[in-house]
Amino acid sequence: MNVLITGATSGIGRQLALDYAAAGHHVIACGRNTTKLSELASEVADATRITTAVFDVTNQQQTQSVLQDTLKQLAEPLDVAILNAGVCEYIDDAQNFEVALVERVFAANFFGVVNCIAALLPNLPKGSKLVVVDSMARQFPFTRAEAYGASKAAVHYFASALRTDIVDTGIQVITVSPGFVETPMTDANDFEMPMRISVAEASQAMRKGIAKGKAHIAFPSVFGFILASLQRLPYRLQIALSKRMRNH
Ligand SMILES: NC(=O)c1ccc[n+]([C@@H]2O[C@H](COP(=O)([O-])OP(=O)(O)OC[C@H]3O[C@@H](n4cnc5c(N)ncnc54)[C@H](OP(=O)(O)O)[C@@H]3O)[C@@H](O)[C@H]2O)c1
Repeated sequence: MNVLITGATSGIGRQLALDYAAAGHHVIACGRNTTKLSELASEVADATRITTAVFDVTNQQQTQSVLQDTLKQLAEPLDVAILNAGVCEYIDDAQNFEVALVERVFAANFFGVVNCIAALLPNLPKGSKLVVVDSMARQFPFTRAEAYGASKAAVHYFASALRTDIVDTGIQVITVSPGFVETPMTDANDFEMPMRISVAEASQAMRKGIAKGKAHIAFPSVFGFILASLQRLPYRLQIALSKRMRNH
C-alpha cells in the first residue's frame, strides 16, 4: 500500500510512519522540518519504503503543489492518506484571549486538513481511505481548550459531512478521535491526563481500525465512553469536573 501521513516528524504520525514501513508498505512521510524527516527516513531499514514531502499544511499553495508533485511520482495511486498534522495551544486568560492564537490553531488543525483534502481528493482512487485525525477533546468542554477543542470539532464535522457527499465515489472517509497519547504535544501539558496511552498503542489502534475500514476510530474506548457519559451531565457538573482538571 501507499500510505501518506502528515505530521510524520513527531508523535503519532512518526510512529505510524515507522510501523507502516516496517509492515512492508510504502510511506510518504510529510512534514515541514527536513532534518526531522531525514532522521525518520534513516530509521527505515529499507529506503525504498519511505519518501518524504516537505510542506507546511497552513500554506494552501505549497500544500497543493507539493502534494500534486508527490502523487505524480508514485508508481501506484495512494491507498491511505492520514491527515494527522496538528498543534495545541491553550487559552490561559479566557477573558482576554488572543484572536491570533485561535487563528493559529485553526490554521493548522482545520484549514491545514482542508488544504490537504482539497489537494488530494481529486487524485484519490476508488477504494482509497481518507483519514482525518481529530480528538476526543471535541466531546467535552475541557478547560483552556476553547481553540483546540473547537478546531477538532470543526474538522470532525467537515470530515463527517464530506463522508456523506463522497459516499458514491468509493473513497472512504475515516475519522479518528484519540484520547491522551504520550507525545511531545501532551508532554507539554501540566495537568493530569487520565488513561494516557503510548504512541505505539495509538498507532496500533489506528492501523487496525483503518485496515478494518471502520468509519470512526476512537481510543482508548473506555475514555471515550466516559467522555460521552459526562456529556450528558448537567452543565454545572461538567464545569466543576473540567475545572478540577485545571487544579491538578
Ligand atoms: N497526543 C495526544 O494526546 C492527542 C490526542 C488527540 C488528538 N491528537 C492529534 O493527533 C495529531 C498528532 O499529535 P501528536 O500528539 O503526535 O503531536 P506532535 O508530536 O506535536 O506532532 C504534531 C505533528 O504535526 C506537525 N505539524 C504541526 N503544524 C504543522 C504545519 N503547519 N505543517 C505541517 N506539519 C505540521 C508537526 O510538525 P513539526 O515537527 O514541524 O512541528 C508534527 O509532526 C494532532 O492532530 C493532534 O491534535 C493528539
